[in-house]
Amino acid sequence: MTALALGQKKARGEKIAAVTAYDFPTARLASEAGIDLILVGDSLGMVLQGRENTLKVSMDEMVYHTSMVSRARPRSLVVSDMPYGSFHAGVGPSVENACRCLKEGGAEAVKLEGGRKRFPVIEALLDAEVPVLAHLGLTPQSVHALGGFKVQGKLKEKAREIFQDALDLEKLGVFAVVLESIPMELAGRISAALRIPTIGIGAGPLCDGQVLVLHDLVGLTDLHLPRFVRRYADSRSLWLDALRRFVADVGSGAFPAEKESYHLERDIEEFFR
Ligand code: KIV
Repeated sequence: MTALALGQKKARGEKIAAVTAYDFPTARLASEAGIDLILVGDSLGMVLQGRENTLKVSMDEMVYHTSMVSRARPRSLVVSDMPYGSFHAGVGPSVENACRCLKEGGAEAVKLEGGRKRFPVIEALLDAEVPVLAHLGLTPQSVHALGGFKVQGKLKEKAREIFQDALDLEKLGVFAVVLESIPMELAGRISAALRIPTIGIGAGPLCDGQVLVLHDLVGLTDLHLPRFVRRYADSRSLWLDALRRFVADVGSGAFPAEKESYHLERDIEEFFR
């Protein structure tokens, strides 16, 4: 999968399926399932690290997780999220950090949150041959500025700002735009106005694709889930049952059995004679 091919999918009227993955085994699963785009999201700060928000995720951590995902050589496009602070201190450091995602992490593109304020950085990344996935609407790195994780663009002024940002981002040359937690009518209007794909999360069915956090999708987390998440499995119960049976088997001596153990080639007495 390539950034270009995602645009071709939209042109053919085909939807794009994307998930987050933060490591080798989940990247392999996503690829095998036919996922088009794997996002190594900074949501790993909440999902893997147990933090309240994504703000403390570091550049080194993003490179580390991206490298695990890209080592799985998925057929999906691998996109690395630029963490908070990695693209806010000017164009030079932003380009350096984005290049780390590609050179050290093995990503094929980066995602960064924000609209018009980020245009100079986005232009510089594109100039450095780094494909960019934009992210509008609820941008979780702005949680404090936004006053919480709230739906964005419900009122006219903000809705028009998001719409205009999307148009301008296409002109700048990003290959797709993530639309997070915005009203479905606004997402539909943006998707119809753009040639590049929109990938929604909490933005309704009119987007050109959908992205979900993998751990939410497979039911591996017991944290509160937003209403836009659909849980396709209850993996947590499955894992919990397996772990409880292991504890019981170890306790009773039923694990390991002889067939799960090794034998010496000679009688042990010979070794200690
Ligand atoms: O960090 C992330 O996982 C994301 C997606 C949920 C869009 O930004």
